[in-house]
Amino acid sequence: MVLLVLLLLVLFPLKLCKTHTIKCRGHGPHRPYHMSHHSGDFILGGISSHGGFMHTSIEFKENVVPKHYQHILALVFAVKEINENSDILPNHTLGFYVYDSHFNAKWTYYSTMLLISTGKRFVPNYVCDTQNNLAAVIGGLDSTVSIDIANILESYKIPQLVYGSAPVMNDKASGLFFYQMAPKEAIQCAGILSLLLHFRWTWIGVLVLDDDRGERFLQIIVALFSKRGICFALKEKFSKVLSFEDLTDVFKDGARISDEIMDSKANVIVCYGESLSMVYLLWVPFLSLKDARPLRGKVWLMTAQMDLTAYTLQKDWSVEIIHGALSFTIHSINVPQFKTFVESRNPLTAKEDNFIQHFWEQAFHCVFPDPTVEIGMGDICTGKEKLENLPGTFFENTMTGHSYNIYNAIHAVAHALHAMVSPERNVPFFSFNTKFTLTLAFSCIQLHHFLRDVSFNNSLGDKISFDQDGQLVGGYDVINWVVYENQSFYRVKVGKVDPKGHADQAFSINESAITWNTLFNQTHPLSVCSESCLPGYSKKVKEGEPFCCYDCISCPEGKISDQEDMNDCTECEPEKYSSKKQDLCLNKTVNFLSFQESLGLSLACSSISFSFITALVLGVFMKHHDTPIVKANNRDLTYALLIALILCFLCAFLFIGQPQKVTCLLRHAAFGIIFTVAISCVLAKTITVVLAFMANKPGSRMRKWVGKKLTNFTVLSCCLFQAGICTVWLITSPPFPNIDVHSITEEIVLECNEGSLTMFYSVLGYMGFLAIASFIVAFFGRKLPDSFNEAKYITFSMLVFCSVWLTFIPNYLSTKGKYMVAVEIFSILASSAGLLSCIFLPKCYIIVLMPKLNSKEQLIRRKL
Ligand SMILES: *[C@@H]1O[C@H](CO)[C@@H](O)[C@H](O)[C@H]1NC(C)=O
Ligand SMILES: *[C@@H]1O[C@H](CO)[C@@H](O)[C@H](O)[C@H]1NC(C)=O
Ligand SMILES: *[C@@H]1O[C@H](CO)[C@@H](O)[C@H](O)[C@H]1NC(C)=O
Ligand SMILES: *[C@@H]1O[C@H](CO)[C@@H](O)[C@H](O)[C@H]1NC(C)=O
Ligand SMILES: *[C@@H]1O[C@H](CO)[C@@H](O)[C@H](O)[C@H]1NC(C)=O
Ligand SMILES: *[C@@H]1O[C@H](CO)[C@@H](O)[C@H](O)[C@H]1NC(C)=O
Repeated sequence: MVLLVLLLLVLFPLKLCKTHTIKCRGHGPHRPYHMSHHSGDFILGGISSHGGFMHTSIEFKENVVPKHYQHILALVFAVKEINENSDILPNHTLGFYVYDSHFNAKWTYYSTMLLISTGKRFVPNYVCDTQNNLAAVIGGLDSTVSIDIANILESYKIPQLVYGSAPVMNDKASGLFFYQMAPKEAIQCAGILSLLLHFRWTWIGVLVLDDDRGERFLQIIVALFSKRGICFALKEKFSKVLSFEDLTDVFKDGARISDEIMDSKANVIVCYGESLSMVYLLWVPFLSLKDARPLRGKVWLMTAQMDLTAYTLQKDWSVEIIHGALSFTIHSINVPQFKTFVESRNPLTAKEDNFIQHFWEQAFHCVFPDPTVEIGMGDICTGKEKLENLPGTFFENTMTGHSYNIYNAIHAVAHALHAMVSPERNVPFFSFNTKFTLTLAFSCIQLHHFLRDVSFNNSLGDKISFDQDGQLVGGYDVINWVVYENQSFYRVKVGKVDPKGHADQAFSINESAITWNTLFNQTHPLSVCSESCLPGYSKKVKEGEPFCCYDCISCPEGKISDQEDMNDCTECEPEKYSSKKQDLCLNKTVNFLSFQESLGLSLACSSISFSFITALVLGVFMKHHDTPIVKANNRDLTYALLIALILCFLCAFLFIGQPQKVTCLLRHAAFGIIFTVAISCVLAKTITVVLAFMANKPGSRMRKWVGKKLTNFTVLSCCLFQAGICTVWLITSPPFPNIDVHSITEEIVLECNEGSLTMFYSVLGYMGFLAIASFIVAFFGRKLPDSFNEAKYITFSMLVFCSVWLTFIPNYLSTKGKYMVAVEIFSILASSAGLLSCIFLPKCYIIVLMPKLNSKEQLIRRKL
């Protein structure tokens, strides 16, 4: 401990107090406004930013910001509340001094020095008063003011609670004496991002104050927002009006920026500024370099430190421009008693209050009679003017974010002091009540310790505590500004960012509670560079422009995009296909020839009818088995052919229905063999006819014998050969059921894979070979004289047969799915029906209708 004391002695050499009066030169008799209530055990210092921005070389004219008077009242109110509350600092009272910074470095330094001197005497750099109990300074609305205060307070290690914008502190160590009554700015940036993403505002303008903080904010959001797909239509900096001389430049620049904003397609403008920045916003409608400017609705998105204030000269200005704007604000609740307290303030009674008269004069445009001046100009203030009648830009009797911060800052200091002096914390050397001269330095360092750990619920239930960086732990509210026709405005809370919640729930907004600017006709405003691409289209970035500006191009064939604004189109899964609009993948329908549909059904019906007709023909033939016409040309062959034809018709059934393992396997083998049987029967018949002619003695034994043997041999060998091919096929590469998802876009084809196309065409080819052989033989035999000469019918039937199967191949190859199968069935039926009708119809005709012709006599007569 001793070491620490020595160290501090080295660091802060104390000087003996000398009486020393210093005049603040250059300002004549003008004193900073102050207000004091200094009879406390602990003194709080307050630096307000109440007055004035215009200095001209000719006169010192102040144009105060009346609204900031409320900040002073919040301080007074909070101190009063604590002193009246026996739970906090029960045996101690708080006092305070408040000085004005005038938004000006000179006055800020002077005021801060006055605070440290804590008295009427201004004695910088001396500690004169052993009872100097300045505990903390509440101060700094704008960052420049705060940093000026900090520069001085740092040497004294007096805690500073910044209620407005905290300056950019690069040096971590100095940050320790610094408490920021606003939550981390990163939370606000994340909140703005969430808000933009929520409304899909991807094309925005940014307007920042031209200082360190603005620069840093711009850097942060450009990096953060670009990553999430937000582009910047414009990034502008605006400067503060620091002096009268700047005015023209600032306005010229303002006019340019305001034109740029109004011309831009970006409807959302993020404004990052300080307490007074909205003053400039009120100028926007008047600033333009153009003659006529179209009025466009904009959504102003303002950051927490901006408050709707106005200079006195703007008293009756329209605040229409902020109608529908959204603001991030420091979470604040109105303290109910504050309104009564504020309304009870009166310039005639509040004698200790050096600010109120000036505020009153400026706000109500009147003057208090000054005994030293002969006649006052303008109206005389009566003191009966009502604060409620002031426009909201001048005064609000409810707490604003900044006042609430002051209120909480004072409570935080009080709680820290309370903890420090409470008897349980018996830290002897640092005891506050000691008369030791080092009290100031020690108490302040000690107070830091307690301030850092302070954590309490304020009278409204808000939890107040600081994180390790000295920033308030908390979130931001999102408010919507609503302006009525009578220029009164309201803040409507529409959302919040609560970092304590889950990351995805941190931001919430109630869209239906938002009132948009009237120019948007109460529809959700858009702020995009390009209209969003509909589903079915994908974005294509325009060359040389930010990625938010793009063209929409429709998806290529087979690809879809199912949401708006897709970067790429995606391909559908194999079992799905893209819809016509290319915004959906649809399930493909299953495609196979089934009995349920008319095509399958009609083919099945024809197949049955044909086989029935064939059976009928067979019946007729068997009934008339003794007639010459049946007996001619080998009756057994005729029966075999008819039975084969019945089977041919029936084998169509193997092709209808969902392909199964068995049906696939049997399909072509059965079809091949049955047809081979039929054609070989035809071939055998043809050979019989030819042989009959060649054997010159009709009815001779040899003819009969040779004929029978040869025909049986022909039929058997032909069939065995085909059976051989089929066996090889089934063994080497058997057909199997297959699901083909590719060949038809919208359908899944259930089919039989032939296994080996070579074998398939071999089977067909062999049949073709037999048919052509029959045709050739029959062709040569067609003119042979025989009254039951079948050769010409066979020629004709083979012609039909061959033409059916020749046309089959190109049709088969050009169709897909069930139509392919249908073509095959049709060919089967057509060729079989061709055989049936060409060979058997004429005979049936004779047998049934012309039985007279069916006789031996006729046979012989014809032969002659
Ligand atoms: C306040 O002072 C009274 C009387 O001097 C004393 O009894 C009481 O303990 C003190 N309270 C605190 C919290 O110091
Ligand atoms: C503050 O309020 C919360 C509930 O709102 C409560 O859980 C907590 O204990 C309170 N803290 C203190 C210090 O009173
Ligand atoms: C302004 O108008 C609103 C609604 O029309 C009303 O609620 C409010 O009291 C008015 N304010 C003043 C100051 O007349
Ligand atoms: C949102 O705002 C509307 C209109 O003010 C209100 O009726 C509704 O209850 C709010 N919804 C939520 C979840 O707060
Ligand atoms: C709002 O309505 C007016 C008149 O109906 C129309 O001229 C204007 O374009 C609309 N504005 C928007 C943003 O839709
Ligand atoms: C597509 O098929 C899947 C799986 O068979 C099924 O779950 C889904 O409901 C179908 N979708 C439509 C639109 O029919």
